[in-house]
Amino acid sequence: MGMLDGKVAIVTGAGHGIGRGHAMELAKNGASVVVNDVGGSVSGEGVGRDADLTVNIIKDRGGEATANYADVSDPGQSEEMIAQAVEDFGRLDILVNNAGIVRDGSIFNMSVEDFDAVIRVHLRGTWLPCKAAGIHWRAINKESGSKVNGRIINTISGAGLTGNFGQSNYAPAKAAIASLTLTLSLEMYKMGVTVNAVGPAAATRITATMPNAPAVVEADDVGEDEWNRMDPSVSSPLVAWLASDEADHVTGQIIRAVGENIILMKGWEDGPTIDNGEKRWDATRLGQQLATDVFSTKAPGLRY
Ligand SMILES: NC(=O)c1ccc[n+]([C@@H]2O[C@H](COP(=O)([O-])OP(=O)(O)OC[C@H]3O[C@@H](n4cnc5c(N)ncnc54)[C@H](O)[C@@H]3O)[C@@H](O)[C@H]2O)c1
Repeated sequence: MGMLDGKVAIVTGAGHGIGRGHAMELAKNGASVVVNDVGGSVSGEGVGRDADLTVNIIKDRGGEATANYADVSDPGQSEEMIAQAVEDFGRLDILVNNAGIVRDGSIFNMSVEDFDAVIRVHLRGTWLPCKAAGIHWRAINKESGSKVNGRIINTISGAGLTGNFGQSNYAPAKAAIASLTLTLSLEMYKMGVTVNAVGPAAATRITATMPNAPAVVEADDVGEDEWNRMDPSVSSPLVAWLASDEADHVTGQIIRAVGENIILMKGWEDGPTIDNGEKRWDATRLGQQLATDVFSTKAPGLRY
């Protein structure tokens, strides 16, 4: 018995890298998987049939999968992807939004096109499948009167949580996905859908664009009993668990899975606070009080 037997999943951007790892893990645990991938370059140019590669791997290993070539940032194609899960396998239980591209550069050199393209694939390409799946599940929930037990797992990055030099498009896109996750966890919980986000780390096409990057590893290159902390499927067991019935109480969480560590991220929380009674602050005196009561206790400043 697999923990995901009978469930149907979509994994976006699953032709390569981390998405392939997730799709393989979900299938290994019994889910039928729609493997989405537009099949373009790491910077989002072109199209291809890369989804077929992962479908073939899953099928060769005895799992069930079909390919989908949608651009997830296109509204019509996103809706059709959700519909395809129902057409191919009769239902949809799990949506893993993983598709991504990078176009790095400092803000001084980054074009508006490179900003828009990255925001589009990551943020819009997560929001649109969430919307289509949410509408699908809400219709079922209304008709049946029962909770739908759906799962959305989005993909964030450390860059989005702490910032990263040269990624003024990617980092805010990932931060926005964290915020989207929190918001949708509120909007969808009542109908029985949990929404969480996972932050992976792996040696993929995306990391290969950075200086001194390790060689790209694909999930199917790593043997079942082999440990490689840069294996793109290192975060996949967490995704499979979040997708399972066991995780029905976990929602609105941002969790990083880096090598051997699974780290629950803590969001923004109140820091040192100053209170001026029922009086308006005086800007010329504010600095002194902030210096003693706020910034002295927790200097923000530069991290490097
Ligand atoms: N590699 C890391 O260390 C790391 C760290 C944090 C977050 N991430 C995130 O993990 C996710 C997967 O990245 P990866 O590292 O495996 O890179 P990858 O390039 O191997 O995989 C990304 C996949 O998304 C697909 N894709 C791109 N645009 C698409 C679109 N519009 N529609 C459908 N598919 C599309 C690509 O074709 C590609 O196969 C991304 O969201 C990335 O930002 C990666």
